[in-house]
Amino acid sequence: MTSRVVTGYRPTGRLHLGHLLGTIDSMLELQAAHHCYFFIADWHALTTDYEDPSRIAQDTRDVVLDWIAAGVDPFRTTIYKQSDIPEVAELALAFSMVTPLSWLERNPTYKEQLRELYGREIATYGFVGYPVLQCADITIVGGETVPVGEDQLPHLELTREIVRRFNRLYGDLFPEPAAMLTEARKVLGPDGRKMSKSYGNVIWLDDPPERIREVVRTAVTDPNKVRRTDPGDPFVCNVWRWWRDFFPAEEPRVVGGCQAGELGCVQDKDDLAERLGERLAAFRERRAELASKPGMAEEVLSAGRAKVRPIATETMERVRDAMGLPHTKKVTA
Ligand code: TRP
Repeated sequence: MTSRVVTGYRPTGRLHLGHLLGTIDSMLELQAAHHCYFFIADWHALTTDYEDPSRIAQDTRDVVLDWIAAGVDPFRTTIYKQSDIPEVAELALAFSMVTPLSWLERNPTYKEQLRELYGREIATYGFVGYPVLQCADITIVGGETVPVGEDQLPHLELTREIVRRFNRLYGDLFPEPAAMLTEARKVLGPDGRKMSKSYGNVIWLDDPPERIREVVRTAVTDPNKVRRTDPGDPFVCNVWRWWRDFFPAEEPRVVGGCQAGELGCVQDKDDLAERLGERLAAFRERRAELASKPGMAEEVLSAGRAKVRPIATETMERVRDAMGLPHTKKVTA
């Protein structure tokens, strides 16, 4: 059965290899079978980065082009930007009336971020209300299925609680959205830490083969395997992890070669870099082509906006009716 799929992405920079298996692959799978709404959560980016919003516009464009280069089809899937849909903010205000502060304060992501971003003034109204806005993102288009990473599960639970409460108070306005867990496996960087822009250990999806080779060459392998002929332990090696995750069919060959002392680490790294380079070649080409068309991202976003606004205004009309507020004048995109 097809379902209405919604997911948001905070514009925090270009996509990299760590996004490929969980995020991108699941987006492509979902798009093949469902109607998908994928949006850039630029208001959400402001909850933590309100002091320096200078990168948000560029990061937004980059993510849109990255998605398309990776295979998200803007004719099939609705791609838009949260801040282009003012009804989202209005619906968040409506939800904020029925959301007890205690629900927000016990949210584990909130507590964790307060600790991690210590020193920055983020104990704000907007930040504690992050899940309320997220609930509005999902329900404004009648979202039923929400693909997210594990870290987002508490937020989705809050969305469901808010929706249930709202429906109980005002009538069955919204379906209760279900989380769909993506990102089963964390991709590690060459240094063995989670691949992340903030650790400076990423392979960007459009990295040229030379850079991929350079990065892969720095990967930590079995320290006891010094020469090619030394039998190695592939299971402590980051290169092996990449084989396993990205090219599982070739993993047995690598494991066998390493253990038997037939495959050296330098050769293994160069082989992997070559395969990754091939795997990313189509992305690299499409990304470059998209970047050469000025206004491409803006065009996609404005088409998305035109599709979502009528749905959003219709949702808000129902919400206003249910909450006893008169309609605003009808707006068209
Ligand atoms: N909170 C998500 C994140 O930090 C981004 C997001 C915003 C989102 N609104 C959403 C995800 C709605 C799913 C649905 O990654």
